[in-house]
Amino acid sequence: MAQNQIIIFDTTLRDGEQSPGAALNIQQKVQAARQLSELGVDVIEAGFPVSSPGDFEAVKTIAKEIRGVEVCGLARAVKGDIDACWNAVKVGKKPRIHTFIATSDLHIERKLKMTRAQVLERAVESVSYAKKYTPNVEFSAEDAVRSDFNYLCSVVEAVIDAGATTVNIPDTVGYAVPDEFGAMIRRLRENVPNIDKTVLSVHCHNDLGLSVANSLAAVQNGVRQVECTVNGIGERAGNASLEEIVMAVRTRKDLFGLTTRINTKEIAKASRLISSLTGIVVQPNKAVVGANAFSHSSGIHQDGVLKYRTTYEIMNPEDVGIEESALLLTARSGRNGLSNRLKHLGYTLSPKELEAVFEKFKALADKKKYVFDDDLLALVDRERSAVPEAFSLDYLNTTSGTGVIPTATVRLKNEGKILQEASCGDGPVDSAYKAIDRMTGLKVKLVDYNLRAISSGKDAQGEVTVKIEANGLIVSGKGTSTDIIEASALAYLNGINKLLATRSRKTEFDKKIKEQI
Ligand code: KIV
Ligand code: ZN
Repeated sequence: MAQNQIIIFDTTLRDGEQSPGAALNIQQKVQAARQLSELGVDVIEAGFPVSSPGDFEAVKTIAKEIRGVEVCGLARAVKGDIDACWNAVKVGKKPRIHTFIATSDLHIERKLKMTRAQVLERAVESVSYAKKYTPNVEFSAEDAVRSDFNYLCSVVEAVIDAGATTVNIPDTVGYAVPDEFGAMIRRLRENVPNIDKTVLSVHCHNDLGLSVANSLAAVQNGVRQVECTVNGIGERAGNASLEEIVMAVRTRKDLFGLTTRINTKEIAKASRLISSLTGIVVQPNKAVVGANAFSHSSGIHQDGVLKYRTTYEIMNPEDVGIEESALLLTARSGRNGLSNRLKHLGYTLSPKELEAVFEKFKALADKKKYVFDDDLLALVDRERSAVPEAFSLDYLNTTSGTGVIPTATVRLKNEGKILQEASCGDGPVDSAYKAIDRMTGLKVKLVDYNLRAISSGKDAQGEVTVKIEANGLIVSGKGTSTDIIEASALAYLNGINKLLATRSRKTEFDKKIKEQI
């Protein structure tokens, strides 16, 4: 790897998937990994193989199918984790084991109940153990930022001697500020004698909104791998956002003098896909990929951009793959027209997928006059992220209005049986959800509800994203329709179906995560 190139280590499918409600099934993870590979990331951290059989299989399938990228798995500094990790990634063309242990006194004493000396020994043992499997071993000093600096230096030096080819310095709790973090990286490079024998990496969380700034400060001080996620998703406030780091380095090449391998034109597609698969909606004012990132509303700005784009735009929307939503297809468009438009948008569908999307497209085009690109993308995302449907919507009728008690009658299909219930509630959506709850028999709590119009116009499709919780497990669900009550019911059922499909996997995951080493 050239010295002026930053390695983009993507952890969307590991740390990103740890966001509440973002759990993905194997097919969804593989689909996301394909897009990450198109995007040009150097390393995909595909999961935490020991955490559940589902995650193990997902990492293994990604390692087998995605060949042009390093595929990495996470492992605590214990032999069982490292064995599981290796068994999952070894089928890959470029496998990597990523092992970690905490180095701050807080974590060592309170969480691990170990001593500094024991942690140092375990770190070295784990790296040496992983090296028996592969030369490509990454070590992370969890909570590095709050660790005693001299002790951190000794751990870093020791794991490099043990053969760690990458050493990662995480800001696990998002505590650092840029000047301080940059200086810490510089001091590490000055104080660890063998530091040049490894690739130095950072992994910043966003609790104070500084993850990207901290990562960039580290880059300016010599770090050459950055760990990040698409849309910045991840534990709590998330991880550093991949697209922001990449576009900052690209836009300010004058300052950084560095490059990445990222094909920036794939950024918008990756962002859309990850949002659709995880159900985590991108905030409109999010840098680079938010809906408003390139829209100018004040008259002065609009005037300036029309006269000379760079007056108010530092990036070109096309450079991140954002195109004007084109109004092209109608009910008269055929399979060829649909397939060509999707190809233009970067989606090549299998004949079976095309057939399914075409059917849905026809149904949609009957309801609305024009089908926009965003409508098409929603259809494809829906088809590709389909979960096994334990319950599907067969019929929905709601009544609401001023002075009317809102009621809903809902009919569901469940394994060949037809179920029907009616309920009243605070509004038509609440009534429908209550009727659905009666039929599924699940105790489901609605944690979040979000409605947006997919395209413009009065006949625009509504897209509803919900987060629901049952027994401590949170999942997201999505539904689209020109009728927003129907979209709401579809989103709720999608969440319930996901819940049923992921329950066993997630329970196992949470149990393992909570276990102490
Ligand atoms: O935030 C963190 O410290 C991590 C490590 C496992 C790298 O995610
Ligand atoms: Zn993390």
